[in-house]
Amino acid sequence: MVIEFIDFGQQPLSDAFRAPEQDDEEFFYRLAVGRCESCSMVQLLEEVPRAKMFHTDYPYFSSGSSVMREHFENTANTFLEKELTGADPFIVELGSNDGIMLRTIAKAGVRHLGVEPSGRVADHARSQGVHVLTEFFEEGTAATVRAEYGPADVVFAANTFCHIPYVDSIFAGLDALLTPGGVFVFEDPYLGEIVERTSFDQIYDEHFYFFSATSVRAMAERFGFELVDVERLPVHGGEVRYTLARAGARVPTQAVADLLAEESARALHAPATLEAFAAAVGVIRADLIALLRRLKDEGATVVGYGATAKSATVTNYCGITPELVSYVCDTTPAKQNRVTPGAHLPVRPAEAFAGSYPDYALLFAWNHAAEIMAKETGFSAAGGKWILYTPSVRVVG
Ligand code: SAM
Ligand code: TMP
Repeated sequence: MVIEFIDFGQQPLSDAFRAPEQDDEEFFYRLAVGRCESCSMVQLLEEVPRAKMFHTDYPYFSSGSSVMREHFENTANTFLEKELTGADPFIVELGSNDGIMLRTIAKAGVRHLGVEPSGRVADHARSQGVHVLTEFFEEGTAATVRAEYGPADVVFAANTFCHIPYVDSIFAGLDALLTPGGVFVFEDPYLGEIVERTSFDQIYDEHFYFFSATSVRAMAERFGFELVDVERLPVHGGEVRYTLARAGARVPTQAVADLLAEESARALHAPATLEAFAAAVGVIRADLIALLRRLKDEGATVVGYGATAKSATVTNYCGITPELVSYVCDTTPAKQNRVTPGAHLPVRPAEAFAGSYPDYALLFAWNHAAEIMAKETGFSAAGGKWILYTPSVRVVG
């Protein structure tokens, strides 16, 4: 049974940016999170139909961050050195998006296939020389891929496996697709970091699961797989890269035992820990809205930086209106000149920000803070200040 510990109420689809004049009814669902009593998995209580989230117009392009481009180039090179070393290796990536990882594999001339249901980003990957099947990965897709290409040495998924509620079908697909010694490697936001940083904005429709070593190990065991390695990653506000192999195929590393012990020592899944997280989220909401109201009363200008999917939870849960945050700047053409889901903040190109600096910038893309602040030294030089809201609300700069 899944026990609820936080409820954000009715929320819109996080990536459903709308044309300003669009007047059809917006889709809302209840965003609430709970923990499974038996396996410790932290998960959403309501599932949004996948076709509402991932389709031709899906606007997130992974390559918008130079740090992430480098991260996935390194990831690809690690696979090429460590796993794709046989005579004719084959790697499949779920959620290959615009080809940010697979283009390095393609350049190396190694057999690969992206499985990516969102057509526009898939087309972009194809323009980079990447092979893509425009489908959702599940048991049936895995069988099709296996029949056409043979078994895969590696199945990889970054910021994608946590989007997929139907894990039974995924594991059946992995079992059909992987070689006997093959691995399923995935990286997603880490529950331990979300709790540590009170990064409640990691909670939105697309993030169905919030993984930990404890919950991933239990899930893998249910399907005849084993958690054989974990690696902490600094990207996207703190992630873990998990490696699963068929049970008994590889010896688990010490890192697995260490992370399991750490999660147990800090009582990561205990009801009291998750309830304290929920209470801290309420404090952030009150502090952030109080700060934005005070700045408005003082006549200061405030804009948002980064129309992230995460920001849908912040704006709609905290009640941030265009009166408090006049617009959000973002480098993604597919989001520009639209309005954000639910809160309807206008989205403008990055040039709007540089052309007329506001007094304050609310950093919704806080996971890219180092990259953005290094780029926006002109804003700081002009006296601009950043507003951050995790782990607590504060003004810097
Ligand atoms: N891997 C990229 C990265 O880390 O930046 C993209 C991550 S993006 C947040 C998630 C991607 O997963 C989207 O491009 C979406 O279309 C895709 N996706 C969602 N469900 C999927 C499924 N069942 N099989 C394959 N891809 C899926
Ligand atoms: P993400 O946090 O899910 O990766 O989304 C980051 C969003 O922020 C995405 O819409 C692109 C945008 N962005 C900028 O506008 N400027 C930047 O410098 C970076 C790194 C991202």
